[in-house]
Amino acid sequence: MKRIFSGIQPTGNLHLGNYLGAIQNWVKLQKDYECLFCIVDLHAITVPQDPAALRSSIRQTAAAYIASGIDPKQSIIFQQSAVSGHSELGWLLSCLTPLGWLNRMTQFKEKAGKDKEKAALGLYAYPVLMAADILLYHATHVPVGEDQKQHLELARDIAGAFNRQYNTEYFKLPEPQILGQATRVMSLRNGTKKMSKSDASEFSRIHLSDDDDVIRGKIQKAKSDMEAGITYDLEKRPEASNLLTIMAAVQGKARGEVEAAYASSNFSQFKKDLADALIAHLAPIRSEMTRLLKDTAYLDKLLAENALKADAIAKANLKEIHKLIGFC
Ligand code: AMP
Ligand code: TRP
Repeated sequence: MKRIFSGIQPTGNLHLGNYLGAIQNWVKLQKDYECLFCIVDLHAITVPQDPAALRSSIRQTAAAYIASGIDPKQSIIFQQSAVSGHSELGWLLSCLTPLGWLNRMTQFKEKAGKDKEKAALGLYAYPVLMAADILLYHATHVPVGEDQKQHLELARDIAGAFNRQYNTEYFKLPEPQILGQATRVMSLRNGTKKMSKSDASEFSRIHLSDDDDVIRGKIQKAKSDMEAGITYDLEKRPEASNLLTIMAAVQGKARGEVEAAYASSNFSQFKKDLADALIAHLAPIRSEMTRLLKDTAYLDKLLAENALKADAIAKANLKEIHKLIGFC
């Protein structure tokens, strides 16, 4: 059996990093795997969220999955909080996760900032919940962007800890799939920083909901450099390298091919072509998202039905886990 689990937090609008690093790969994988694509709202509340905004982001995320090409009849698109097994397994696994492992997590260090005393327990335990998400369904493969690599390694360690504790080979170790060229899309304002929902500047990222003019404006304003020609050099030219990578990923071409085409171009020509390519790719997705978001009844029904499917798998597995632990 080959089963995929992956998820995105419903916090604000999805951006190009989420799309190229995760969703675009999911679309390609869905024909070869049984897939669960989750809207990880329990993860979202590890930092404060406004309830109305969260509610709307959950539908936005579902619409983005479908508009990007995830087939809701084939893949299970669902909301994490609708399947209580995630929280439950999160607790069970937290009882065998050493604090030392969590202390190594770089995302916690970044998100907690200087004052760790004030950080929530949930933010610290975030990777344990993520391990639970994956192991609850015995997912064999987990397609994510590069920033999630450390969390996936931890999920494998936690699976191993469970197996050792209960003297079993119950959990197979899930395989990370960090695929494609754009595994780490960088900010348009700073080529050494990841494109992220939490960056204060809207100009650092392109949202799936941005209209054509906004996309053009953001690409025009994207940081560039003074060198001649557009060439790939991560060390010396992080911004040019990022824009080249985005162009290649959006056009489905090898990076070398795009680089050869623009080796003697200037930024103004390259940026114009990049904006055109992004618009050609993203405009149909955006209009489908808009259409889907008008039909909230359809989205809500789909999420409810899919949650039942996910819940059935989760319940059966939790029963086995309860037996192994000695609850019954
Ligand atoms: P998040 O928005 O943190 O819930 O991330 C959801 C998915 O998008 C994960 O698979 C991330 O690895 C991926 N992702 C987020 N930001 C980026 C980025 N800048 N480049 C590539 N992938 C990303
Ligand atoms: N932590 C992931 C992120 O922010 C989202 C996520 C939660 C996830 N649970 C998951 C991804 C399980 C893959 C598998 O990017």
